[in-house]
Amino acid sequence: MNFSKLLSYEIDNQIVKLVFEKQPLYLTFIAPGVIRVSTNRQIKSHAVKDVKSTPVIINVVSEEPLEFSTALIKVRVNDGAKISFLTTATNDKICCDCREEASLFKNKKIRIYKETAPDEVFYGLGETGGFFNKKHYSYILWNTDNPDPHTENNQSLYKSVPFYIGLHNGLIYGIFYDNPYKSYFDFGKTDPSVCAYAAADGELDYYFIYGDCIGAIVKGYTDLTGRTPLPQIWTLGYHQCRWSYRDESEIRELVARFRKNAIPLDVVYLDIDYMDEYKVFTVNKTQFPDLSGLISDLSRQGVKAVAIVDPGVKIEPGYPVYEAGKKLGYFAVTPAGAIYQNVVWPGPAVYPSFLKKEVREWWQQQLRGLLDKGVRGIWNDMNEPASFAGPLPDDVVFPGDEKDYQHREVHNVYGHYMAQATYEGLKEYDQRRPFVITRACYAGSQKYSTVWTGDNHSIWSHLQMAIPQICNLGLSGLAFCGVDIGGFGSDVTKELLIRWVEAGCFFPLFRNHSASGTRRQEPWTFDRETLEIYRRYVRLRYRFIPYLYDLFYHHQKDGSPIIRPLVYHYPNDINTYDINDQYLVGATLLVAPVVEVGKRNRIVYLPEGIWYDYRTRKKYQSGYHIFDCPLDEVLMFVKNNSILVGTLVADYIDPAQHDTLIVEVYGDKAQYSHYYDDGVSFAYQNGDYQIYDISYQNEFLEISLRHSGHSAGYRRFIVNINGKEKEVTLNGGSRRLKI
Ligand code: NOJ
Repeated sequence: MNFSKLLSYEIDNQIVKLVFEKQPLYLTFIAPGVIRVSTNRQIKSHAVKDVKSTPVIINVVSEEPLEFSTALIKVRVNDGAKISFLTTATNDKICCDCREEASLFKNKKIRIYKETAPDEVFYGLGETGGFFNKKHYSYILWNTDNPDPHTENNQSLYKSVPFYIGLHNGLIYGIFYDNPYKSYFDFGKTDPSVCAYAAADGELDYYFIYGDCIGAIVKGYTDLTGRTPLPQIWTLGYHQCRWSYRDESEIRELVARFRKNAIPLDVVYLDIDYMDEYKVFTVNKTQFPDLSGLISDLSRQGVKAVAIVDPGVKIEPGYPVYEAGKKLGYFAVTPAGAIYQNVVWPGPAVYPSFLKKEVREWWQQQLRGLLDKGVRGIWNDMNEPASFAGPLPDDVVFPGDEKDYQHREVHNVYGHYMAQATYEGLKEYDQRRPFVITRACYAGSQKYSTVWTGDNHSIWSHLQMAIPQICNLGLSGLAFCGVDIGGFGSDVTKELLIRWVEAGCFFPLFRNHSASGTRRQEPWTFDRETLEIYRRYVRLRYRFIPYLYDLFYHHQKDGSPIIRPLVYHYPNDINTYDINDQYLVGATLLVAPVVEVGKRNRIVYLPEGIWYDYRTRKKYQSGYHIFDCPLDEVLMFVKNNSILVGTLVADYIDPAQHDTLIVEVYGDKAQYSHYYDDGVSFAYQNGDYQIYDISYQNEFLEISLRHSGHSAGYRRFIVNINGKEKEVTLNGGSRRLKI
């Protein structure tokens, strides 16, 4: 895009209006390191709500070329609306528009070309296939239901998050292109010196975020688009799913088998077959004659039911959801005004327009029937929206609040609004922290929903892909994410299932799911050895629940992901830039699973510092190491001078039973703060929680209650200091003891 000559500029508070010959461009300074660049100041965002600007002092440092600076960034403006971002302190180029337009995306309305350094790497972009670093790949953001095996060449998957992080020469930045239309990203694939972006329509509207670490960029992005609120703690447990558990007795037997085998289980899913002919908000009375009774029996055993709810409403005269939606005008229509129909699971079906508040409220009323039956979470699937009779035409009309939208404008936000409707409906009616899981979404959907990566397959390349996917989703604000453990499509093998549960037992969402017609992959479907290994890693997960919950607590404060790529904490170490098979859980636990068939050892890269092998407590220096890793092991390392917290493992997560905290100290000086609350309600927002500060130094361990707002707390601490174990009780506010 070229707006021709720069004629003048005006500064009004924190907004700079740049007047070009062809059209104006606005720079809105939101924080010293966050600048919005847009052609219009009134563009409706589906992702950003109530931006809170911090005071920014804008200096005009030069008129020719025109340059503004904040405490962190210098913005240089050239003719043609070419913008360069440099560091204020050192004048280093962070990210600059190319002076000439590159040859690709010429026919797209919105086009931006950024210079790319030879050593530059790119991360984020929500859900993509392939490897962690996006350099040399291109993508099209257009939410797509793609059941074929996803490869690194797939350009579109289910989610659209037009945000990425660039890193070169120690400089780190993020760009969020807030435009829901079909968008295109080319990370140096066509021309290695250019990172190109285009959108089919809409306006130029992006946020440039600069900071001194990746965490600062993710914080800046989630300050704009929101964060995942603290979930109910049971959602961090183990989830078992299958398309489908077909009747009540199958589910009862399933749960009994988990309990008999001492494999913890918190959640069971009802996939589409619980419905009557796939009609949303109905129940198949033959297979599920007493759904409420089933759910309450499960709940007595600590198991929660999550039910699938798809957007496609079956066209069937007399079916109340269809009749009411039709009468109220709540479905998408053709340009001529007839209700638009396509085909999904129920056959011919119509699509509610979640873009409209009234429709969302109506949908929320429908959800109540499921909640009344005891369902504790809602699974939103097929909301790209999927359409078996060919793609929805661009001009299908989705009624909205301020205006009616064409499909081409809101395709990528359809799932986002469905998740919003579901989240808000659950929050209002159930009063507990909502659990929603969605397949399709847009930037900012983390405010409403957990996500999973859709239909992966039981193939080794998809186990390998899971780690970069989880890392990139976390960097893109979608902290509560997971993949189908064991793989959804195709038949899993014993070894693949074992390696998958090992690799995925720390993923924020820990769910085993598989497609109808594929080989069963519940923990016992192979042999005793598989069952035992599977049990061991589900139990390991449960031991770490307090640590994972702490990470969720931090995420809602600063956006930090639960699962992090190594580069997140070691951005100056180029050895971390392309690591696809290791990850960090928080800052201190490094996991290096085997993700290749037949492998019984592997190379592990340990970044800066000293690391303890979790199995042996043996110390290792940073660098490359080779470790044996038999089938029943996953390599885990703990950073020197850190503390991990854990709990005693039970059949399911019951916050009321969490009276013991395991505290493991590694090294001779460490500090940790642990968060605890009722794990269910919103009372924490009124101060109803505990924070324990734990520190270790000079052979003294100190545990103190920094915040005491919750009636329950830990009675007992099992402390393990560099291998030496001791039990401690906390009477009153603090305890200091020599170990
Ligand atoms: C597609 C989803 O991705 C999958 O998880 C689900 O089992 C099927 N739809 C059937 O509902």
